[in-house]
Amino acid sequence: MGPWPFDPRGAQAESISVLYWILFACAVVVLAIVVGALTYSGIKFRDRPGRVAEQFHGQNTLELIWTVVPTIMVISFTALSWNRLNFINDVNSNVAMTVKVEGRQWAWGFTYPDQPMFKLPDGTLLQAGEQLDIPVGQKIKLELTAKDVIHSFWVPNLGGKKDAVPGHTTTMWIQAGQPGTYKGQCFEFCGDGHADMLITVVAHPQSEYAAWAKTAVEEAARATSPETKAGHDAFLAGPCAGCHTVKGTTAAGKVGPDLTHIASKPNIAGVLSPVNQENLTKWVRNAPSIKPGILMPKFEGVLPDQQIDQIVQWLLTLK
Ligand code: CUA
Repeated sequence: MGPWPFDPRGAQAESISVLYWILFACAVVVLAIVVGALTYSGIKFRDRPGRVAEQFHGQNTLELIWTVVPTIMVISFTALSWNRLNFINDVNSNVAMTVKVEGRQWAWGFTYPDQPMFKLPDGTLLQAGEQLDIPVGQKIKLELTAKDVIHSFWVPNLGGKKDAVPGHTTTMWIQAGQPGTYKGQCFEFCGDGHADMLITVVAHPQSEYAAWAKTAVEEAARATSPETKAGHDAFLAGPCAGCHTVKGTTAAGKVGPDLTHIASKPNIAGVLSPVNQENLTKWVRNAPSIKPGILMPKFEGVLPDQQIDQIVQWLLTLK
């Protein structure tokens, strides 16, 4: 996918890129005229021996032109921008669904709307970290907020950017014109991890969206069943979520492997098999003793034994 001015992929991005190109073209023309006139005058009227400069005051025609033309241009730009802004800022008409977005150091969390298709058996709503899945061709309203500092949501090929501010809700909308994966990134410096605060928006064909939601809800439900809720909560609240991703939860760490289907894997980190309670417990307690040099620290003595057990119980449900 190209840079957004060349490759807008949705109604909003298209509307912004048209405005961008109009302003850019006008700026290039103005630049050419100004630099051209400057160069021409500099050469034509330069100081030469024996030449006396003509003395005069005022030039009504020229002054009128360079006052009226820029005025008309500025007024046109204002009208055009106003028109686009009304379109871009209209977050309420024809909205297909509303997703809550929370920025935090340093990841995005998405909560899907209160609709039956996004409901988990325990009554909570589908959530995701970093990746937002939307249907193609529909206007998706985003309600943004932040947990700690100001972040900014921007997926350039889909639309403009909006700040996510702690204690405050801002709104915007995005719409994808065609299926695909759209990359975005936090656009407000928010600390050490700012550069890694990436956003992925995946647009599904409308006919496939319900099927996607069903799978996502099933995955999430497995991850939050009542028997293993303690482990789920400990995983998300503790250090695990900082490095690992589990789809269907807000765990979106990128340092360690994705654990969404850890219980169906043939082994743990390629060294310990099978994936069962005994081996997983060994691994969480002291991974470096099994695979020297690994980034994962030992958690024996760091997390209470009971919590490690609960986390392992939960991991074993991630089939
Ligand atoms: Cu969040 Cu930059």
